[in-house]
Amino acid sequence: MLELKGVTAHYGKSRVLQGVDLEVRDGEAVALLGRNGVGKTTTLRAIMRLTPPSGGEIAFNDRRLAEVRAHDIAALGIGYVPQGRHIFPRLTVLENLCIGLAEPPAAGELEYVYTHFPVLLERMHQFGGTLSGGEQQQLAIARCLVMRPRLLLLDEPTEGIMPILVNTLRKEIKAINQTGVSILLVEQNVRTALELCTRVYFMEKGRISFECTAAQAKADPELVHRYLGVSHA
Ligand SMILES: Nc1ncnc2c1ncn2[C@@H]1O[C@H](COP(=O)(O)OP(=O)(O)OP(=O)(O)O)[C@@H](O)[C@H]1O
Ligand SMILES: [Mg+2]
Repeated sequence: MLELKGVTAHYGKSRVLQGVDLEVRDGEAVALLGRNGVGKTTTLRAIMRLTPPSGGEIAFNDRRLAEVRAHDIAALGIGYVPQGRHIFPRLTVLENLCIGLAEPPAAGELEYVYTHFPVLLERMHQFGGTLSGGEQQQLAIARCLVMRPRLLLLDEPTEGIMPILVNTLRKEIKAINQTGVSILLVEQNVRTALELCTRVYFMEKGRISFECTAAQAKADPELVHRYLGVSHA
């Protein structure tokens, strides 16, 4: 469904992505792990063409994304939840949810979003900025869901969120994946990544240095430690 081949990207003169190869198959949840600054966010930005690649190929359902304008990528079915959430604090929850829609939602159209994130229904008329960090993250994901994506790119959704909400979020991301939405998940929380995903890519210095199944990574804490410098035990 999504395929990156030899993708490079620059910020000014510095080459941040050195040739990234990765793939997300239909219905899969895949994790992209790596230490700070290795290029995970830039990889997602390259897919969305927010940082257009300087080389290589990205294809989504066999469509070359180089031919697609940045603001049309979402319409192809790719939802992007950036690192740090970026909801609109002075708009209500409902206004935030509707911002990407061409028309106001029909009655019941947002029902499935509220099924995943009931707290958003309770807080529909509250300003986005008054939600807790975890609730804002749910809103950021929900805002993508209303666009009916086939693939969700999630950049550190559990960053800075209290443990009890991490569980909720993890459960809901899993449930969303089970409805058939593919997921590419960037995570610092290795446990979350290995629970949600079936395959894992490890990134180092702008390229993928290792790829394995989540089961292999779970069974081999040494391996995870080698690439991330942390243990998931
Ligand atoms: N707008 C920018 N201008 C210049 N350099 C940048 C810019 N954004 C990121 N970089 C650099 O590119 C490299 C990769 O950054 P990126 O944000 O992709 O890393 P990351 O793996 O997502 O890190 P983190 O885990 O900290 O979120 C880093 O060295 C970073 O300093
Ligand atoms: Mg990042």
